[in-house]
Amino acid sequence: LTAGPELDTRPEFLEDVRAGLCAERKRLSCRYLYDERGSKLFERICEQPEYYPTRLEAEILERIAPELAALFDEPPRLVELGSGSAEKTRLVIEALIARHGSLLFEPIDISRSALELSSQGLLEEFPELEVHAIASEYVAGLHALSEECEISPAPWLVAWLGSSIGNFHRTAAADFLRRLRNELRPADFLLVGVDMRKDASVLEAAYDDEAGVTRAFMKNLLLRMNRELGAEFDPDAFRYEATYDEELGRVEMHLLSERAQRVLITSLGLEVDFAAGEAVHLENSYKYSGEEIEALAKSAGFEVRRHWDDGEDRFREVLLALPKESP
Ligand code: TRP
Repeated sequence: LTAGPELDTRPEFLEDVRAGLCAERKRLSCRYLYDERGSKLFERICEQPEYYPTRLEAEILERIAPELAALFDEPPRLVELGSGSAEKTRLVIEALIARHGSLLFEPIDISRSALELSSQGLLEEFPELEVHAIASEYVAGLHALSEECEISPAPWLVAWLGSSIGNFHRTAAADFLRRLRNELRPADFLLVGVDMRKDASVLEAAYDDEAGVTRAFMKNLLLRMNRELGAEFDPDAFRYEATYDEELGRVEMHLLSERAQRVLITSLGLEVDFAAGEAVHLENSYKYSGEEIEALAKSAGFEVRRHWDDGEDRFREVLLALPKESP
């Protein structure tokens, strides 16, 4: 198990908070939601009854894992982008080991602690498994792996699960897929978990659960700024809202100021004014139609080789590869 140091994101955190809270339409970057407490809250979001994607994706993966293993004649290497707890990935790992005898698993995640924790668990559970964990941003990590491929040419199954693709704007998703594609070879596959367009009521409940875990997850960023940046946010002075924009096909997540207030952020030497009802944007989650998935794949230079859904087309696993008659 090798992993780099936890990335020092503090200078970026400071700059992003300054830029985001000084903007005309205030925003905070979702990447800062995942500190230690945030990561735990996120795991709990995935267990909420309203948050259907995790459950549906696990069901699909369990069902299709043997088919994924059968895509390869020789033992593949399994790469996972943003592996987190790797809870759903173990279903795929199990099937790959069952078919190919052993497996090299290469999770890439920006959280070194999440990598260590999940890798230890997997190594204990699967004696046939070797784990090479990379603490890095996705494309940099994948690039580092592809350089090693010169030595070990085993084909890749790259998994990007949890509808993380939905957290990119549509054009950024295409750009990102194109960058991934540049790291892949003709025998490789990219498996992407995609959440489908559906009723606003289902979506809004999924992102604003009854137990208030998502709300706590969002407000945790205020607490993080208090702790790490000497800010003086009162979490009770903000409320959380998730709204689905049908036309854009995205759930938008905001914190709204309950009243007019001024908040000091000591490390930035900055006081930020919030009007009553003013919104701070934190995250989007884009939803896709089948046609949108096809178009996205094509624009990124991929071909959709297969896809599987939950039976009601609420969630899909999409298998991408380089086009067969690629020039
Ligand atoms: N990729 C997940 C999604 O969009 C992440 C997620 C679920 C999430 N709930 C969230 C991200 C709440 C931020 C806030 O479904």
